[in-house]
Amino acid sequence: MATYQLNINGKHMSVEADADTPLLWVIRDHLKLYGTKYGCGIAQCGACTVHIDGTPVRSCVVPIERMPNRNIITIEGLSEIGDHPVQEAWKEIDVPQCGYCQTGQIMSAAALLDRIPQPTDEEIHRAMKGNVCRCGTYPRIMNAIKSAAKTQES
Ligand code: FES
Ligand code: FES
Repeated sequence: MATYQLNINGKHMSVEADADTPLLWVIRDHLKLYGTKYGCGIAQCGACTVHIDGTPVRSCVVPIERMPNRNIITIEGLSEIGDHPVQEAWKEIDVPQCGYCQTGQIMSAAALLDRIPQPTDEEIHRAMKGNVCRCGTYPRIMNAIKSAAKTQES
């Protein structure tokens, strides 16, 4: 057990944990940020996606010992009031069904649009292919990403 100083959603936080504790566990169990979800635990579904230094990362497989001095953003930090362009597009298109995968979908989409503001369909497919949706909301996800890209353009 050791103490780790983390930067999460722009705030400095101190966490006591074993070095190999996955970041997802720290986010949910230690910091009580429940927006990030546990799906598979083996980096296969994308439900646990957060941004680390702007890159979408599967937090279920990242040990906490690698997190000091990194800039971590969870869904709670994407926007204080849930009005990030991707979130607004998600609402407009009414993307979620059960909702479980949607945090990961939104975090992957937001990272994509940060990197490529006007992505092609192929770039969207490539960026989102690791985010599984058991409800099959993929067409609406595609439409929402395009809508958010348009909003950013105007
Ligand atoms: S819970 Fe992390 S990828 Fe599935
Ligand atoms: S909305 Fe149900 S798993 Fe994606």
